[in-house]
Amino acid sequence: MKQVTLHDLTFEPFISAAEIDSTVASLAAQIDNDYRGRNPILLIVLNGAFIFAADLVRKITIPIRLDFIKISSYKGTESTGKMDEHFLWKSNLEGEHVIIVEDIVDTGHTLNYLKEKIGSQHPASVEVTCLLKKPTAYKYDDHLRYEGMSIEDKFVVGYGLDYNGLGRDLDSIYKRSGS
Ligand code: IMP
Repeated sequence: MKQVTLHDLTFEPFISAAEIDSTVASLAAQIDNDYRGRNPILLIVLNGAFIFAADLVRKITIPIRLDFIKISSYKGTESTGKMDEHFLWKSNLEGEHVIIVEDIVDTGHTLNYLKEKIGSQHPASVEVTCLLKKPTAYKYDDHLRYEGMSIEDKFVVGYGLDYNGLGRDLDSIYKRSGS
């Protein structure tokens, strides 16, 4: 695998497609095991989680329902903490078992903002699955139930994640060079 250049930045190979695949398979197996008989609703956070979610839901074997949220807080390579809500889920979450599907958790502001909104509909439970987490950047002290990989606090692209609109289509994950 070679370096890629997106706009003004260069990225180098970081997490292979095979490693991603086994991480997603392990998350799916845990969800299968924990949610049997509960028909959870997976709330997929767009745009970034679309590829992770597409792979995850096809590896989960129990019956699930899907809904979508489109929200953003990132500009370039920085988390702004200011949420832009494009649309929220349509399902009634009252009494439901909800799993939020996030691509990457950085400061955790997006996730905690969503947890509060979701909590106001009184679901039976709310858990989170994310493919990647940057533990040193995370500003909350809760534990995420289904966490894929912990990574250093570097800006990454690929497998759904972008840098100003580019890089989502890369089939593995790249990190910013020299950061
Ligand atoms: P948080 O609110 O700081 O946790 O940021 C979460 C959102 O920012 C994610 O859903 C991503 O869309 C975006 N994000 C965070 N880190 C990165 C990264 O390294 N590359 C691309 N997008 C990122």
